Amino acid sequence: MRSLSLLITLTSLGAKGVAGRDEPSILRRACPDYTSYSSTGHAPYSGGPLNLPFQRPAVECRTFASSAVEEVIDNVTSRMVDKDMAQLFRNAFPNTLDTTIRWHTNGTSTATTSRKTRRDSAQWQGAQTFVVTGDINAEWLRDSTNQLSGYQALAKKDKDLYNLILGAINTQAEFVIQSPYCNAFQPPPPSGIQATSNGQKDTVHPAYEPSVVYECKYELDSLANFLALGNEFYENTGSTEFLTSRWYLALNTLLNVLDAQSQPTFNDKLQYVQNQYTFQRETTLGTETLNLAGIGNPLNRGTGLIRSAFRPSDDATILGFFIPPNAMMSVQLKKTANLLQAVGGQADLASNLQTRGENLEQAVRKHGIVHHDKYGDVYAYEVDGYGSRIFMDDANVPSLLSLPLLGFVDKSDEVYQNTRKMILDPDGNPYYLTGSDFHGIGGPHIGLQNAWPMSLLVQALTTDSTSEILESINLVRNSSLLGLVHESIDVNNIKDYTRPWFAWANSVFAQTILKVAAEQPALIFGDGAEPYVIS
Ligand SMILES: *[C@@H]1O[C@H](CO)[C@@H](O)[C@H](O)[C@H]1NC(C)=O
Ligand SMILES: *[C@@H]1O[C@H](CO)[C@@H](O)[C@H](O)[C@H]1NC(C)=O
Ligand SMILES: *[C@@H]1O[C@H](CO)[C@@H](O)[C@H](O)[C@H]1NC(C)=O
Repeated sequence: MRSLSLLITLTSLGAKGVAGRDEPSILRRACPDYTSYSSTGHAPYSGGPLNLPFQRPAVECRTFASSAVEEVIDNVTSRMVDKDMAQLFRNAFPNTLDTTIRWHTNGTSTATTSRKTRRDSAQWQGAQTFVVTGDINAEWLRDSTNQLSGYQALAKKDKDLYNLILGAINTQAEFVIQSPYCNAFQPPPPSGIQATSNGQKDTVHPAYEPSVVYECKYELDSLANFLALGNEFYENTGSTEFLTSRWYLALNTLLNVLDAQSQPTFNDKLQYVQNQYTFQRETTLGTETLNLAGIGNPLNRGTGLIRSAFRPSDDATILGFFIPPNAMMSVQLKKTANLLQAVGGQADLASNLQTRGENLEQAVRKHGIVHHDKYGDVYAYEVDGYGSRIFMDDANVPSLLSLPLLGFVDKSDEVYQNTRKMILDPDGNPYYLTGSDFHGIGGPHIGLQNAWPMSLLVQALTTDSTSEILESINLVRNSSLLGLVHESIDVNNIKDYTRPWFAWANSVFAQTILKVAAEQPALIFGDGAEPYVIS
């Protein structure tokens, strides 16, 4: 479980205020720490049956402002019939902008070095954005890509959002270049914000610099999320401004990791070869460290799959060929190939990426699809190339439930549908958790009594069934009694939750509502309502 003992309050930071403006420091000093702020309710309340509180910080305490986002909030909430659901959207959609943009520069401060060659070759040049996960003062590559995802569609018409996301890509590129095996990062040096320690005793190879890295768990999806952030920006804005020499260096660094992590435990002569990445933590929790003195369980030759030492929950994999991030990486490699093709040039690199993506996709289908006695052919969560497989799903994305969202399969795909039946069944997925108050997919990270609202949102995002969508989003609403979406909920006590301030889950909620607004508007706006589509 992520440590909550290292909270840094806004008050202790010399960071800039709302984008591009220097707030008088007196105002910033008066801003409450959002972890405690979000742990109690604030007026005005919704007036609905749950009377959900308003949880946006005071305007002068918000970490970024976007008029395009405010317009969407006004338009959507004014039309929503359910006042509690509307309040949740009002709080959740801007949550990442309101609370987690710990540092942003749009690049103008480096104007004196803005000659293209100079900018492209130096660290931390151009727009930069540091996005914390919420209640921990560090940026996760995965969380930040997902936190920003809901704003991508607005970046075309809102220059501030455009610069914000461009900066986030540039900052992630710096992190990937420095420490491609790591999952969470410290504030960039130019921000002047102090680094914190995660309080753990870890022994990790390759070694990392603790002033740069907050935690160094190697998760394949962190790297896929770096590619996804740029690909999504390109798809939404048509811009390739992020394709600097730093980004290409990050891509090259990433590909070297994929090659190293494609190596089996025993080579073709059956000799043991130690993996380039090892991780050991002094801990009593098995999921927080790797078996076999930091190496992880053996993986066979010839699968074409890429190892992931940890999952997006930050828990260790049991079998290192973890299927969801392999699926995600195959999609993102092909999208990156398309992007490079579209801008012309680097034809070798584009075809290299396309081939890698196609080979990985085949490997996922060949080794990831296995026969289950009860459900037929399904995707396994993890495999090892020796025939062992793990049947389960975890709430964190990438997951098996999210495969259509990742762009890997269509939601009507038969193997996906079989898999979906398995992982939404308490007899098929040990982490499908149910109780008197709440149900959904959880995972080992919080434990066997807590299901995660995010899994219900992903369930709603991967079905066309109106009853399944309504039931899922209504249960999330019912479990968000403080007006924000939490990390996990005790299945027997809907009031018992983890993480008051978990920005990623709020972004997924907002995206779910926006998808329903566009595709099934009657469900939230009432009978006969026109769709709401961000254009
Ligand atoms: C960067 O921010 C400054 C200050 O708000 C603004 O004047 C400038 O136009 C911005 N630059 C870009 C590229 O948006
Ligand atoms: C919101 O509604 C206003 C007024 O109806 C409209 O002009 C505007 O385009 C809408 N904004 C979005 C993002 O749809
Ligand atoms: C949500 O709570 C209401 C009561 O406040 C209840 O009627 C409804 O069945 C609940 N919905 C779900 C999906 O649990």
